Amino acid sequence: MLKDLVLGDDKLSLSVNGGPATFDYFWLRDNARDPISYDSRSHQRELFTASVDPAIRPQNGWVDDGTDSLVLEWPDLEVAAHYEAGFLAEFAHAGDPMQLPSPHPWDASSLDHDAVRLSHDALLGEQGVLQLLQRLQMYGFAVLTGTPRTLDAVQQVADSIGYVRQTIFGGLFEFEANEDMADSAYTPKELRPHTDGTYSHDAPGLQLLLCVDYDATGGESIMVDGARIAASLRATQPQVYDDLTRIGVTGLYKGDGVELRARRPILRLDETGRLAQITFNNYDRDTVRLADDDMRALYAGIRAFDSMANDPAYQWRYTLEPGDMLIFDNWRVLHGRGAFSGRRKMAGAYLNREDFESSLRRCGLA
Ligand SMILES: [Fe+2]
Repeated sequence: MLKDLVLGDDKLSLSVNGGPATFDYFWLRDNARDPISYDSRSHQRELFTASVDPAIRPQNGWVDDGTDSLVLEWPDLEVAAHYEAGFLAEFAHAGDPMQLPSPHPWDASSLDHDAVRLSHDALLGEQGVLQLLQRLQMYGFAVLTGTPRTLDAVQQVADSIGYVRQTIFGGLFEFEANEDMADSAYTPKELRPHTDGTYSHDAPGLQLLLCVDYDATGGESIMVDGARIAASLRATQPQVYDDLTRIGVTGLYKGDGVELRARRPILRLDETGRLAQITFNNYDRDTVRLADDDMRALYAGIRAFDSMANDPAYQWRYTLEPGDMLIFDNWRVLHGRGAFSGRRKMAGAYLNREDFESSLRRCGLA
């Protein structure tokens, strides 16, 4: 409910649903929801903001109790602009539409191993994707059990969240131990925890990995919560934490006809200082000579970070059974795999980060 409107010199004040709020005139003009300034079907701004008088102010304004709206007459608009109470309430204070719910960092002792599991049948039911996304949001990963062991099943799970991303590896992929491939993921040696796509400016957001066949010993999957490591470093080794948020690390993929490079800090913060992305793959780290101080600081950071990532106290270790599909947030959780001998066939896919975030929002989780 809107009331107590006062038109000031460069802003107005009013009560929005019982709380006091002020709005700058220029902001109100920029975000006017009239059909000339804004296309409500596409949610796109039509206004040429740069051409608006910086000192613009409404010629007249009032609260329309019938529609519970603020009505403003602007000098450059023939029709008055209406601002609904819900709209004004949403923007009564500075906010961040990109903000996602805080993760629940976990380590080996705090993770509820049953909580990350979900049957593939449940995914097909009503609220199925919501249950999967809840696990991904809270823990950064989930295990779908009883999944059909086909590429179609990988495709369907991907489609329930977004769409399959094309990469140098194609779209849907399958692999077994194979010494001919250039990437370390294809060998039966132990694969230490890492994130994928460190050489991509836009690393895959989610990875799906389906165990198709397993006739082997060893080869357990490893998950490590990068958010947990970051929180621990921040609390106990703030200098190392700061260095890891500051020093860019270059990832490299060279082979198969491409030479991909991208650079960002291992702990990338957004402009508000929140941890936005973990990027770590010691295998794919390019040979780079930094200034000596930064080089030493980076090595100290890698030593601290990777020691924790390889410490069982921070790891979830589990041998996937045929039909288990591991789904994880590649911007948060590191993945690895124990050494194995025998035959192990996997199928998988990547999804883009923005499609994962979109699904979180559409399901009301962000
Ligand atoms: Fe990987």
